[in-house]
Amino acid sequence: MNAPAKTDDFVAAQAPAKIPDGVYAETVLAVEHYTDRLFRFRMTRPAGFRFRSGEFAMIGLMVGDKPVYRAYSIASPAWDEELEFFSIKVPDGPLTSHLQAIKPGDTVLMRKKPTGTLVLDALTPGKRLYMFSTGTGIAPFASLIRDPETYEKFDEVILTHTCRDVAELKYGFDLIEEIRNHEFLAELVGDKLKHYPTVTREEFSHKGRITDLMANGKLFADLGVPALDPAVDRGMICGSTAMLKDTKDLLEKAGLVEGSNNKPGEFVIERAFVG
Ligand code: A2P
Repeated sequence: MNAPAKTDDFVAAQAPAKIPDGVYAETVLAVEHYTDRLFRFRMTRPAGFRFRSGEFAMIGLMVGDKPVYRAYSIASPAWDEELEFFSIKVPDGPLTSHLQAIKPGDTVLMRKKPTGTLVLDALTPGKRLYMFSTGTGIAPFASLIRDPETYEKFDEVILTHTCRDVAELKYGFDLIEEIRNHEFLAELVGDKLKHYPTVTREEFSHKGRITDLMANGKLFADLGVPALDPAVDRGMICGSTAMLKDTKDLLEKAGLVEGSNNKPGEFVIERAFVG
């Protein structure tokens, strides 16, 4: 039997919103939800899209007939054929309230030009690289810890990730596991990468804000490394505005100077996406 004929109204309601010119429209490949606040997704990578590990891009969705964009750190490394993002879910967030519902096959928009300061080029040469993150601030470091260049430039890479509770650390644990089991990265990374997860709102082996653990020396004692030294240590920071400020103050107190793309320095910072 033939399907009933569709009315013009029905067809119009089903028609996809027009994708704006000059942006990429990519296909969602996988979505994984970690908690009611966090999820990650992977999508196709446009053939001509180049970025440096640690950079961010503007990611968007059509909401009604208008595109809504937010800055998202690219969590996959520069060599990956796909793009990965790690996102918060804000119940009434203009983008994330919609983005959290995406499924494989859906379309996600991306503006063409990536940018950002959490890149290896913005740091002067050093021996030990600290990556300080809270919440989704781990995303740019998920990219950098999977990039061989990070291990060419540094003898030791320390990734700290602080979340409210243990469930929110899972993305980070999965990443480390992936690297340890990766065909090429496992050998290249060896024991250069140290993961230091901490939580603030429930019991865990490492408890407390990273800023407190730096100030009281516990971070360095646990890792078996000396206190921060501008001669050898470099830093990258990604988290909330308050976390950036407090961590930056501690690095500056230790004598490290902030850098940028134009003027490489001893540490760099970027605000983690919210909204
Ligand atoms: P806390 O639980 O003490 O607020 P959020 O999910 O709100 O973005 O927070 C992520 C993590 O960042 C939490 O563990 C939180 O600790 C921590 N945090 C919040 N503010 C700061 C700050 N100013 N310095 C360091 N860590 C912070």
